[in-house]
Amino acid sequence: TEKEDRISSCCPLSDLKKLPQCHKKLGQLKISGMHTILVDVNFFNCEGKLVAQDGRDVWHRNFVKMPNSQSSFMIVKTGFTKQPTKTKRWDVIFKQLNSLAKKTTVSVKDLEEAIIKCNPKYKDQWTFDALSEFVKSVPKTENYFNALFPKIAELALKLPDFVKKTIPLLQSGHPAILTLSQLQISCLLANAFFCTFPHRNATAPNAEYHNYPSINFTSLFGKWSPRKKEKLRAIMHYFKVVTDENTEPSGMVTFERRCLGAAEIPDWRSSKEAMPKLHVTSRGTIEREGTGMLQVDFASSWIGGGVLGSGLVQEEILFLLNPELIVSRLFTEKLGDNECLIITGSQQFSSYSGFGDSFEWTGPHVDDLKRDDWARLERQILAIDALHFRHSREQYDMIKVTRELNKAYCGFKAHGSDEPDIATGKWGCGAFNGDPQLKAVIQLMAAAKAKRGLAFFTFDDEKLTRDLEQVYSLLVKEGTTVKKLYGLLEDFCAVQQMSGSHVELFDFIRNNIGQPRSLL
Ligand code: AR6
Repeated sequence: TEKEDRISSCCPLSDLKKLPQCHKKLGQLKISGMHTILVDVNFFNCEGKLVAQDGRDVWHRNFVKMPNSQSSFMIVKTGFTKQPTKTKRWDVIFKQLNSLAKKTTVSVKDLEEAIIKCNPKYKDQWTFDALSEFVKSVPKTENYFNALFPKIAELALKLPDFVKKTIPLLQSGHPAILTLSQLQISCLLANAFFCTFPHRNATAPNAEYHNYPSINFTSLFGKWSPRKKEKLRAIMHYFKVVTDENTEPSGMVTFERRCLGAAEIPDWRSSKEAMPKLHVTSRGTIEREGTGMLQVDFASSWIGGGVLGSGLVQEEILFLLNPELIVSRLFTEKLGDNECLIITGSQQFSSYSGFGDSFEWTGPHVDDLKRDDWARLERQILAIDALHFRHSREQYDMIKVTRELNKAYCGFKAHGSDEPDIATGKWGCGAFNGDPQLKAVIQLMAAAKAKRGLAFFTFDDEKLTRDLEQVYSLLVKEGTTVKKLYGLLEDFCAVQQMSGSHVELFDFIRNNIGQPRSLL
């Protein structure tokens, strides 16, 4: 069997389907009940140009409340009650940002004053120490920030011209699609930078947006740490590129919330699919070597996780390299168990090295991906949030396993015929404390069900690479189906719960695959 073990059934990366080879003809861009497009569709279809779609100013709980809405007024706090004043929010923002935009350089102090004038309630709560330390820490020759701040202000001020149609919220339980131009995204992010989005700072459990991630950038500006420096470098670089008319981005990005309907949830116990194609490697990363595939974001249910705070693992790094992803926090309600978010077309602006505390911004990245018929870069990112296990043993429970299977399947499920394969890795196995062997099997089962191949990047984990390759080869040799694996997982969980010591899943599979189902 030693000899057999060495014969791998895994495939080379080149055997898996990637964009643009499996490029789809999309046809004309079309609005539908499910798909909101913030650019003028006819203009785009006829002339290929991106101009803002006209629309009404709507102040309603199903839409993003915009800082420039006619219904948005400044609020004063008297004692315990908050009251709107007669002053329009945008008048205050306009005055503050316009005075910054007219200057050639703006200090962090000026910036802080402007942000606080737009958010007077937070005068004593918000700090800007990280931003000022950051600006001080970068050598004069590389320090373009004071000259960049006025340009970000100028970009933020274009909001009424750039985004005319209200932005629907991608709400929990409702599949929906939103497409906007990269310029519109840059303008929304410039507003987030100046913390102009109303109703988005309160965090109380009864706050209007309590079920949404934060979007205003305040948390990025306070609480200095070396991590903040690298994060701010990436964010500033993004704004530098998008505020320069020679390099401003010229395409569109789509955000799609998918929900697995009750009728679509697989009956894992009776699924007869065989193992999908698998490539497993300890070298490379999802975002680089997985180019052209559906790339998994090891997400938080609050999309983007700690990107605006101190978090700096896979998801946060991805969002810093592709800051357009951050705008999803403006409109994506917390993901539920059977939901995911797919983002098509975001641009990579930066390169990096390291991970967590060793993360470093290493310079600009020139994105040379092709664009599809809707002017979107051929990059698909799938955000799926694994469960967070405080104690590792919690995960050996079929309710949890099934939740993870459905979550992965919700994201992997193909919605067309010629979809790329999936690039993933140790999903849920870092910050979220999952068992890499169990998560690998779960993702294999979900990919089998979705009939898509998997590229599995173990991120330098040589042992997992070898073990997964071996166990996969065994599964293929035995003609194992999803249903058989589900049964093995049921038995495995039962064993884990009964015995005090830990049995490894791969060992368990090796020892039990040839046996008829035991009566545990
Ligand atoms: N490509 C492939 N593998 C990677 C990469 C990469 N680029 N980066 C990291 N890994 P983690 P989680 C490996 O901890 O456990 C965030 O705050 C690496 O071995 O990011 O699902 C989110 O917002 C790493 O240990 O994912 C969530 O709140 C492992 O993947 C939370 O973390 C897991 O990466 C999700 O945590």
